[in-house]
Amino acid sequence: MSISIGIDVGTSGTKALAINPEGKILAEASAGYPCHHPKPLWSEQDPEDWWQATIKVVREVVTKAKLKPADVAAIGLSGQMHGSVFLDKKNQVVRPALLWNDQRTKAECAEIEKRAGGRKRLIKMVANPALTGFTAPKILWLRNKEPRNFAKTVKVLLPKDEIRRRLTGEFATEVSDASGTLLLDVVKRKWSKPLLKKLDLDADLLPKCYESEAVTGTLTKKVAEKLGLSVECVVVGGAGDCAAGAVGNGIVKKGLLNTSLGTSGVVFAHSDEPQFDPEGRLHTFCHAVRGKWHMMGVTLTAAGALQWFHNELVAGGQKGKSAYRQITAEAAKVPAGSEGLQFLPYLAGERTPHLDPNARGALIGITLKHTRGHVTRAIMEGVTMALRDSYTIMQDLGVPVRQIRASGGGAKNPFWRQMQADVFGKPVTAMVADEGAAYGVALLAAVGAGEFKNIEEACKATIKTADQVKPDAKARRVYNRTFPVFQDLYAALRDEFPKLEG
Ligand code: XUL
Repeated sequence: MSISIGIDVGTSGTKALAINPEGKILAEASAGYPCHHPKPLWSEQDPEDWWQATIKVVREVVTKAKLKPADVAAIGLSGQMHGSVFLDKKNQVVRPALLWNDQRTKAECAEIEKRAGGRKRLIKMVANPALTGFTAPKILWLRNKEPRNFAKTVKVLLPKDEIRRRLTGEFATEVSDASGTLLLDVVKRKWSKPLLKKLDLDADLLPKCYESEAVTGTLTKKVAEKLGLSVECVVVGGAGDCAAGAVGNGIVKKGLLNTSLGTSGVVFAHSDEPQFDPEGRLHTFCHAVRGKWHMMGVTLTAAGALQWFHNELVAGGQKGKSAYRQITAEAAKVPAGSEGLQFLPYLAGERTPHLDPNARGALIGITLKHTRGHVTRAIMEGVTMALRDSYTIMQDLGVPVRQIRASGGGAKNPFWRQMQADVFGKPVTAMVADEGAAYGVALLAAVGAGEFKNIEEACKATIKTADQVKPDAKARRVYNRTFPVFQDLYAALRDEFPKLEG
């Protein structure tokens, strides 16, 4: 048997699944952990939480699928992108990791652009502008604000790559996740020595960079025993969660576009060549497909906004009480447009399209008529409008779109899928098995283990689309009217948000 395991180190939890050579899921498991916000718009996690969750879910998958050590040939790793794990020379973490939705590095982004000789030259070197969530500004923040911690740091790893180090003892990453560090020459698919020099950063801080299906190491003896696996089990590069999720939905060909509603929201388009948004609102990153790239727009708080509303205001902070079904059923009874209630989903600042670390969430237009169902619907609509912002930029740039595939926790709800079709004014396709990033990297692992010639072939053999929802003409008309209002509301509040700081 040649079984592959995919592990996705997410923001709300870690998920693992095992697949057989036909791509059938044999078992899956997930485990959650907290995210800490020491200040508004800051986000941190403890890498030890990711590791404990990884051990738990892999063991659970091995037990549930009754796998023997020799059964599992390969592991693929996916994870939340951009996070910074700072390691000292004994491989101890120097401080908690700063995450992708942390906004503390405004000054460092300005410093990077200045050192690079301006935004245009920076984009020439690494294909993207300096954004607060990316890794390079986090490294500079450590150097500027916590110099003692910086002096101790000998390696900086992305979240999934810290898990790789604990699994294999190797310091390695791969091109799709490395693209989000702002230190990769995305066009040439290797670390940018010129930028490292301008930032006065030692190239040794970074791990070795591979293609996504390449083998980066094997399990250490201790870990193999702990997980019930073999020391011959290889660990492939894997992918950042956006590229991994796209692979998991078969987005490996021109014309296919993926929308994902997880903690963040992503609109992801495959491209055969590197394509650029001159204004830097969309990211240009390497795809997990050898020799291919992708463009994506990122909404920092997507299903995460609904989760915040549910946990803090519906379940009253009581963990383990789920009222999602109830509140989304209430929302479905409210007419499209939420009777004039609008929501700006910028609870962690915003990337696409505003590139604004000061942006905040807002619920606007409340009247005594509005109910909890209206608020829930307005949140879902605001998040979907934010995805439309990314989609609109892609349309303006002429990115070819033959099919939109919806994925992520949010898309599992048919009501939110229909809302996407109505807001975009385009049919939206669901997947038969929407297993996301963990599935994508399990396929990359299967390629690494030699089960398939390449990832395109693996996707062709395993990924199937399900039903397609078409836009409802009436709802579409409503959203075409409310979308410009949504955009104007941000413009009206943009200069007020920084005044809320402190
Ligand atoms: C992508 C991004 C997020 C995280 C979430 O650029 O920042 O989607 O990867 O896990």
